[in-house]
Amino acid sequence: MIEKSTIAQRIIVALDVNDKARALSLIRELPDAEVFKIGMRLFTAEGPALLKDVQELGKKVFLDLKFHDIPNQVAGAVRMAVQHEVSMLTLHASGGSEMLRKAAESAAEAADQIGKPKPMLLAVTVLTSLKDAQLSEIGMGADAAGQVLRLAGLAQQTGMEGVVCSPQEIELIREQHGHEYLIATPGIRPTWAAANDQKRIMTPAQAINLGANYLVIGRPITAAPSPLEAFHKILDELA
Ligand code: C5P
Repeated sequence: MIEKSTIAQRIIVALDVNDKARALSLIRELPDAEVFKIGMRLFTAEGPALLKDVQELGKKVFLDLKFHDIPNQVAGAVRMAVQHEVSMLTLHASGGSEMLRKAAESAAEAADQIGKPKPMLLAVTVLTSLKDAQLSEIGMGADAAGQVLRLAGLAQQTGMEGVVCSPQEIELIREQHGHEYLIATPGIRPTWAAANDQKRIMTPAQAINLGANYLVIGRPITAAPSPLEAFHKILDELA
């Protein structure tokens, strides 16, 4: 039996809503949730001021903006994220080794200079929405699994703390990278929740048992009649 508070730290609630009012009201409805994901939709709507609002409620921010640009730009954006004290952020491993290395250096340097904690850097490998035919279209060939492993390896060598991947890739990445490398996975659906547009899903327990460190869960919690009840049901299942 694992403490529920320990499990709560591993669930990242995705705030996929359009405005601050709804985002903050969801956070208030979930007093035991500790980490909230802010992606490009909410960030574009509300800007960085929202990060502070979330933190003032005592919550950690997972900033999922999937940075992908020239190394100098990404390093600068990472520095800003450190100033905003985000706990975790994402970047595309396909930005290449120099971009990843500069991002890792920038995070460490900024944290040191500003005296704030260094965020955890997680790499996105291949977007799970891309099917084989689409991967060929962009010149990546049809070997999605091979590409995921290649990029996960590159990300580890260049100082990323882990990856965001689909539940189907957890096992492969664990095998290749051992237990220190962090894995955050979306596509999580408890048996009692609707799949929505997620195609290849796993239950929270399956994903944790395969070795995921963090579960990114949105609608099963945020669209539930009672988000609080849904959150606790997931904690109970995992405990
Ligand atoms: O509502 P749901 O649980 O499907 O939300 C999953 C979250 O994970 C969303 O914020 C979505 O952007 C994110 N995500 C995903 N699939 C990926 C990468 C991220 O669903 N491959």
